[in-house]
Amino acid sequence: MPLRYGVTVGVADNRGVDVSQNQAESQIAQQRTALRWTGAVTSTLDVSVPHSARVWNYWLGGKDNFASDRAAGDQVRAIFPEIVEAARYSRAFLRQAVTYLADEAGIRQFLDVGTGLPTADNTHQVAQRIAPQARVVYVDNDPMVLAHARVLLTDPAGATQYLNADLHDSERVIREARATLDFSQPVGLMMLGVMGHVGDPAQARDAVRALVSFLPAGSFLAMSDGTATSERVIESHRQYNESGAAPYHLREVADFTAFFDGLDLVEPGVVPLGHWRPEDGSPKVVDGYCGVARKP
Ligand SMILES: C[S@@+](CC[C@H](N)C(=O)[O-])C[C@H]1O[C@@H](n2cnc3c(N)ncnc32)[C@H](O)[C@@H]1O
Repeated sequence: MPLRYGVTVGVADNRGVDVSQNQAESQIAQQRTALRWTGAVTSTLDVSVPHSARVWNYWLGGKDNFASDRAAGDQVRAIFPEIVEAARYSRAFLRQAVTYLADEAGIRQFLDVGTGLPTADNTHQVAQRIAPQARVVYVDNDPMVLAHARVLLTDPAGATQYLNADLHDSERVIREARATLDFSQPVGLMMLGVMGHVGDPAQARDAVRALVSFLPAGSFLAMSDGTATSERVIESHRQYNESGAAPYHLREVADFTAFFDGLDLVEPGVVPLGHWRPEDGSPKVVDGYCGVARKP
């Protein structure tokens, strides 16, 4: 049954992970009072339907997922077992891209759109290890990500903000992110594993361009997404999209690469996940691509 914040409903999944309404409400109340938190709590948390952030959390070995998420995740994995490596490589890409941006490119501000549930090495942790003063704004439209946002808001020396918003509402995202980020200075825009949720190619391109348009020269765009590069990944996502979860649309590599049009790609360019300045050895090739580019 859908759980809408403001209605008293308790939900437990079959592994005994409790998500009670009181818990969610109290987390949100604490976020409102103690942390930089913005956005209306209007979304519905429905644990009977798989959700992108929770299925992703399942593939990453996390515990913040429900039976419906695990069933959808297992269905994909049965056809395309490399999804687990793809998720792991995608998080490795986040580490490497943020490290590059904070260390080599000197970026001190990050806008992470399509944040997902907190896991190891979130953007602020990677950035603030290198530059403790780094400032990070997280943006996601999933109520469960909102309920976990407190973990993202530890605030050593820099600043972190969580914004409950849709990436299509770029004007609002930028307006509210101004509480933490200075848009006269370069920003690292992170859009990892999120644009697959926007099916229409023109709408997807416009959404990315709109966000990039608010950034000053010297800013960067880091992106990763699943790609339609094998029959197995295509079939696994066809089935996933029938599970009731928000559909995830795989793109051709050329269409993914086009997100970077007008920007200067950083070496090694657009490459398979795991191949962007790999941390260890020779990673497998999985059906997902990534890249980082600078706004001239
Ligand atoms: C597959 S997860 C990726 C999480 C994280 N970026 C990572 O790479 O580990 C996709 C995330 O995008 C979020 N998302 C999907 N559509 C969105 C939208 N229109 N606006 C904001 N967030 C969205 C989902 O809620 C989910 O948390």
